[in-house]
Amino acid sequence: MTLAPLWTVADIVAATGGTPTSETPFTVTGVSIDSRTLIAGDLFVAIRGEAGDGHAYVEAALKAGAAAALVDHAPQGLDPSTTPLVQVGDTLKGLEALGRAARARAGAKVIGITGSVGKTSTKEMLALVLGQQGKTHASAASYNNHWGVPLSLSRLPTDTRFAVFEIGMNHPGEITPLTRLVRPDIAIITTIEAVHLEFFKTTEAIATAKAEIFLGMDQNGTAILNRDNPHFTQLATAATACGVGQILSFGEDPASDAKLRHWVPAADHSLVDAEISGQKITYTIGAAGRHLVMNSLAVLLAAHQAGADLATAAAEMAHFKSPKGRGLRQSVALPDGGDFLLVDESYNASPASVKAALAAFGQVTPDGQGRRIAILGDMRELGEDGPALHQDLAGAVCKTADILHCCGPLMRHLYDAVPAEIQGIWAEDSAALAARLRGEIQKNDIVLVKGSLGSRMATIMSQLLSLPSAS
Ligand SMILES: Nc1ncnc2c1ncn2[C@@H]1O[C@H](COP(=O)(O)OP(=O)(O)O)[C@@H](O)[C@H]1O
Ligand SMILES: [Mg+2]
Repeated sequence: MTLAPLWTVADIVAATGGTPTSETPFTVTGVSIDSRTLIAGDLFVAIRGEAGDGHAYVEAALKAGAAAALVDHAPQGLDPSTTPLVQVGDTLKGLEALGRAARARAGAKVIGITGSVGKTSTKEMLALVLGQQGKTHASAASYNNHWGVPLSLSRLPTDTRFAVFEIGMNHPGEITPLTRLVRPDIAIITTIEAVHLEFFKTTEAIATAKAEIFLGMDQNGTAILNRDNPHFTQLATAATACGVGQILSFGEDPASDAKLRHWVPAADHSLVDAEISGQKITYTIGAAGRHLVMNSLAVLLAAHQAGADLATAAAEMAHFKSPKGRGLRQSVALPDGGDFLLVDESYNASPASVKAALAAFGQVTPDGQGRRIAILGDMRELGEDGPALHQDLAGAVCKTADILHCCGPLMRHLYDAVPAEIQGIWAEDSAALAARLRGEIQKNDIVLVKGSLGSRMATIMSQLLSLPSAS
């Protein structure tokens, strides 16, 4: 497959103010900051990050097929006069400049997504429904930070009709420069919840930080806000204060522009009856969970606002599947015969997302003697409220799980708060718990695995995917 040209050397020089070190003309078809995942034809941007200095990988990137590299100096061992390098003062600023230039030349409807949870899930769902109606570009993975956002922007092709960017933050002030790069036509704030409490005293303060997204918008912009969230008014007020022209909302609240009228949960999908901008519409979402139903309302409202056909977008929801680590379900064969259903929520966890995952898990009824087994790891970054927020999950666990296995010091608070008949194993960390799971899973069980990335629940996932026999 030949990739379409994205940036010529002249474009890169015009955008970044950099200097080519050789006279060789070049055109790049993509942008990358990682020599391991680079695609031939990419521009390799040598970023100086926490994990190391990209300048150490310029040679590897060129060997892997990079068409050129953006650097702040020619790395040792490379002859700049014959190597396609563009030299700038600061490579991260260079990447931002490229992102800014991509935005300036784009004809796409640009949608920015932030919120405490559900950014990636919403981005994937929006990209799915828009992708069917016109050329769509979306951030890869969770590329939502100071390098992820400019990188995603710099990859935006000129002939894109819809562009969807995830914008994240852990601290106040982080969204401001990112939204000024993205300049969203439409901004979705999925929800405001207690996450990153370590860095924020209150959820109001979290809402204030999320509201920074409006600083990149003007009177032509549309804010799409969760009307059921207690911070709706705070966010709407902030949007108005920033001069955002239109405020739309989604939720169960009858005043919502995308209003949930009724929904029917099922084990692996949901049926939704909604009213979007005055149009009644019924659709199926191909994955379970009320949280996805709420996200779908924001998605359809944004799609409609971006000029996509609403009925076609709603029909496409049936093809949505939860991404890996965010609810992906698979049937796993047991060595002694039979199988169990594994729900992979191992990517991340916060009080809101654990409750959402447990609720969806509770909708699945095991066959035969099967049980619902929740395997939970610590939710991180909750600051001093951590123990109480873990203990607080006891009600949701008791309602949905027959057995709770858990790991990590914070999960001990939850383990001690559930009745003895639900208590399975508690272990210090995920590796210790994984080692003790042999024989704990039986035919027809439904197993949910969830925890913060730092709790390394992936160790448990690999163990469950290759369970040795119980004997
Ligand atoms: N609206 C929502 N409310 C609560 N949990 C959600 C919501 N949307 C997604 N989730 C769950 O939250 C976790 C993180 O989802 P993700 O989409 O990766 O969020 P983010 O990109 O904001 O970190 C996943 O377990 C996902 O299933
Ligand atoms: Mg994300």
